[in-house]
Amino acid sequence: MKNTIETLSNEKRIISASDEFKANATHSDPEIYKLAAADRLGFWEAQASQLHWFSPWTSVLEWERPFAKWFVGGTINASYNCLDVHLDTDRRDKAAVVWEGELGDVRTFTYAELHHEVARFSTVLTTRYGIQKGDRVTIYMPLIPESVVAILACARIGAIHSVVFGGFSAQSLIDRIHDSGSRLVITADGGYRRGKVVPLKSIVDEAMEKCPAIEAVVVVRHVRNEIKMQPGRDDEYQSVMADTTDLQEAVPMDSEDPLFILYTSGTTGKPKGIVHTTGGYMAHAKYSAQLVFDLKPSDVYWCTADVGWITGHTYLVYGPLANGATVMMYEGSPDYPDKDRFWEVIERHKVTILYTAPTAIRAFMKWGNHLPEKHDLSSLRLLGSVGEPINPEAWMWYYTVIGKGRCPVVDTWWQTETGGIMISTLPALSPMRPGYTGLPLPGIDVQVLHESGKPVEIGGGLLSIMSPWPSMARGIWGDNDRFKSVYWDTFDTYFAGDGATVDDDGYIMVLGRVDDVLNVAGHRIGTMEVESALVEFDGVAEAAVVGIADELKGQAILAFVILKEGVTPSDEFERAAIDWVSKAIGAIAKPKRIIFTPDLPKTRSGKIMRRLLKSVANGQPLGDVTTLANPEVVGFLEQQLSIKVDLSYPPTN
Ligand code: WTA
Repeated sequence: MKNTIETLSNEKRIISASDEFKANATHSDPEIYKLAAADRLGFWEAQASQLHWFSPWTSVLEWERPFAKWFVGGTINASYNCLDVHLDTDRRDKAAVVWEGELGDVRTFTYAELHHEVARFSTVLTTRYGIQKGDRVTIYMPLIPESVVAILACARIGAIHSVVFGGFSAQSLIDRIHDSGSRLVITADGGYRRGKVVPLKSIVDEAMEKCPAIEAVVVVRHVRNEIKMQPGRDDEYQSVMADTTDLQEAVPMDSEDPLFILYTSGTTGKPKGIVHTTGGYMAHAKYSAQLVFDLKPSDVYWCTADVGWITGHTYLVYGPLANGATVMMYEGSPDYPDKDRFWEVIERHKVTILYTAPTAIRAFMKWGNHLPEKHDLSSLRLLGSVGEPINPEAWMWYYTVIGKGRCPVVDTWWQTETGGIMISTLPALSPMRPGYTGLPLPGIDVQVLHESGKPVEIGGGLLSIMSPWPSMARGIWGDNDRFKSVYWDTFDTYFAGDGATVDDDGYIMVLGRVDDVLNVAGHRIGTMEVESALVEFDGVAEAAVVGIADELKGQAILAFVILKEGVTPSDEFERAAIDWVSKAIGAIAKPKRIIFTPDLPKTRSGKIMRRLLKSVANGQPLGDVTTLANPEVVGFLEQQLSIKVDLSYPPTN
């Protein structure tokens, strides 16, 4: 049965899920919003009770702004809640993870098998490497089942995992290892990306030269390329596992023991290690995955994010496994070997729920309808979007071409810091509006605020989360002053850094970042990080980086560079500087183009006027320029930009 589309006006398109979807949804009574609002803490206690606790909590919330403690005194284990809880049920022998490699090989782990693998690897971590509760372990892996094993094996013994996305450079890995104080690295020989091997182990080798505190490196043999193994430091995962039969029990953790650190970009050159703890994070992960995706054990659920991002943590590992679903994992690129790979995966594995990013959806749109139409996508029943604003056009395409007007689309807004979804369409509870993420989840208290901190009733402002929630970040690893100043100095309540509008029905549309953080293809990148990398390149005197609108990626990076005396601008220099950024941070941070300039627009006190640069770069009105000390530079930059009309050269990422 098709859903009904009711168009009130061009502005207000309202789409309802089918009666069938609503009838089968686990949560379909809108009373849940009222229930949660009437007794928020009681509501969260009920959600936390869905988990297995070794011992109960004594108080629900202790709040000393900005630090929260949830389910205080309770003991729990995240790995136990993803694995052990299923062993005495009929989920024991169903697939927990179905993995497809880029080459087409498929590996399946039932819940019993995944439990076995994880428990053995926990034994390896404790007995062979002496890893204990509270130790940090860095995971730098491709998207293979062992990345899930590594995460859950750490959680099982209370080691704090710090997953670093496999696309980051050796330098980014070094910075994250140092900041977290990791003792151990878990990696793989390599991963596949568009048919090519990404040589992860050799990147780790390069990083290890600067990481003397790392005692051991465990290497999963995956692509079986030639690698160097340093005796006494490096071990093959397969061989250390072969020596181990003991199954490590899940160790009870305090609800507030850290579960993981995940680095994310901010407005300075240094990424922030966001800390999440165990009980509250798991309560929200389980609840939100069930509520937003209507996730059931019968689902084959595919979140296309990498484990290196928060989406991979909460909605590829912890949330879906806690709900006993089957998690689909695909290692590689959506266009390999052909541009219909995603649709092939869905057809082959009968995927029921797809959770992906607008940047991918826009690429699929561009590649053409004939590709999804070649495949049987009738197994799908729900579609999700995350990571950046989804434009109504892409929303409608996703809904009609992929979902055939049958599958509701959920647009989910959240952040690394929020741990889980905060705002989302809930199609069984309230209608969908393309372009709008919808209402805050029951139990979550979000408002759009004026700069003064007063709530906006209808119109635009800044997103803020008004009350503490269980999966909120507990701090920045080693830098709680920064935690306070970034998130808690703007308002009394949590400042998200996103602009948004709110409509008369309470629906929220998220507009994007209001700070110097870019969102390129759904990945957060700090302008300062890119600028610091650029000024380290030989010949660069000064750099300023802004985001420009990009049809596919949402935003692309444009850099303005002042060269040192005697250095001549050239295409070669541009290319070399772009490659340098890729080497320094990772390919996701590559500028699309560099504009060379003798000067940058500055205030009389010498500060770069980034706002003005952004307007120039995006061809927008310049606004107030009274404080500009060197107006002549604006005309020069406009002229340079018009010469480099085709900003797509050279091709990046
Ligand atoms: C953006 C990803 C609009 C936003 C889960 C946020 C979104 C940042 C949406 C967090 C959405 C995420 N609509 N914008 N549905 N989801 N964002 O930490 O700017 O990688 O602040 O977490 O992505 O990115 P992060």
